[in-house]
Amino acid sequence: MKILVTGGAGYIGTHTCVELLNAGHEIVVVDNFSNSKLVALERVREITGKLFEVCETDLKDGKTLGRVFSENQIDAVIHFAGLKAVGESVSLPLRYYQNNVAGTLTLCEVMDKFNVRNLVFSSSATVYGQNNQTPFRENLSLNGTNPYGRSKLMIEDILQDLHSSNPEWSIALLRYFNPVGAHRSGKIGEDPNGIPNNLMPYISQVAVGKLNELQVYGDDYETKDGTGIRDYIHVVDLAVGHLKAIEKVILDNGIEAYNLGTGSGYSVMELTQVFENVSGQKIPYKVVKRRAGDVAESYADVSKAKRELNWQAKKGIVEMCIDTWHWQSKNPNGYKCTEEAGAFKN
Ligand code: NAD
Ligand code: UD1
Repeated sequence: MKILVTGGAGYIGTHTCVELLNAGHEIVVVDNFSNSKLVALERVREITGKLFEVCETDLKDGKTLGRVFSENQIDAVIHFAGLKAVGESVSLPLRYYQNNVAGTLTLCEVMDKFNVRNLVFSSSATVYGQNNQTPFRENLSLNGTNPYGRSKLMIEDILQDLHSSNPEWSIALLRYFNPVGAHRSGKIGEDPNGIPNNLMPYISQVAVGKLNELQVYGDDYETKDGTGIRDYIHVVDLAVGHLKAIEKVILDNGIEAYNLGTGSGYSVMELTQVFENVSGQKIPYKVVKRRAGDVAESYADVSKAKRELNWQAKKGIVEMCIDTWHWQSKNPNGYKCTEEAGAFKN
């Protein structure tokens, strides 16, 4: 199959490109590199030994996107391209709605024009909001608590409407829990801009000596040790979930949401402890007040993905920490110090 991957140069996108290429699919990557670097795709080529086309364009440029569809026989689209920083979305809501929602509208219009109606969309567990009981099931009521989360909800609604208007659309809404880890080669991984907002990259940057200490956002939650509980999922497991979702959207028409998580929750202190053990590095920390908008616990009911996609996460918390540490210690500055050869650019 030939699969268009929007946002394919990003963290989850690169890992998914590796799995798609290794499974024998052809890919075309579209990315504007607003939060990624071309070198990440060169690493994908190194890992897989396979060549693929890359088009540097913004998703909102429908004309260029149309050219990509006219020049390639695309069977399905995996749509990662989006902005994802919660705090930034609160201060720049229009940028988030413009990029995430308007970008998706343009993509769907072009897909429709070229009769490509198989789509896998990156949603997020953030759509479960703050008032639901764990484990989160796909049929719970949804609630956006910030512009980023609302952009995901709006897109889920738009895609539902699209399917209602034309049942030939076949769509998987993948609600990721907390992606962490890196490819075991240590060549690709998460490379956040500036100081990380998320726990795992923060811990790994403390371990490698780039940050002094972890701030633990609250130890007074009603959880086993008082710190927040999350369902961390290895990014390679997540990438494999996309392969399964693509198979499903190609076979059946319809629109379905799937949780991609492990189904198990770990606290901030547990994750920190495992990371210390596997890295041999001390992670100094200080408990500070809760972060606004955080829930005490979030973990998935993963039975639907298991039943309908024949997918389940295989990698545990130790492997997640080992692979994160391997990537971080091999690339202390992420992709920054690497020369970009520009071999792929169109
Ligand atoms: P990322 O920022 O690493 O990757 C996103 C990619 O999309 C980047 O390469 C960026 O340059 C590109 N992009 C953004 N806007 C674009 C546009 N308008 N046109 C073209 N390219 C554009 O993020 P990620 O962690 O790989 O996340 C991928 C998707 O998964 C996002 O939609 C994100 O909201 C969603 N998601 C991520 C997480 C997470 O924790 N990483 C959790 C839940 C959902
Ligand atoms: C955050 C986002 C969420 C997004 C998800 C994945 C917020 C409010 N939520 O969720 O919308 O989908 O990332 O990108 O930003 N923690 C610390 N210290 C830190 C960082 C985090 O103690 O420096 C704690 C948090 O309080 C939480 C846990 O670690 O209990 C995980 O945090 P994080 O990695 O940011 O993920 P989420 O809170 O699930």
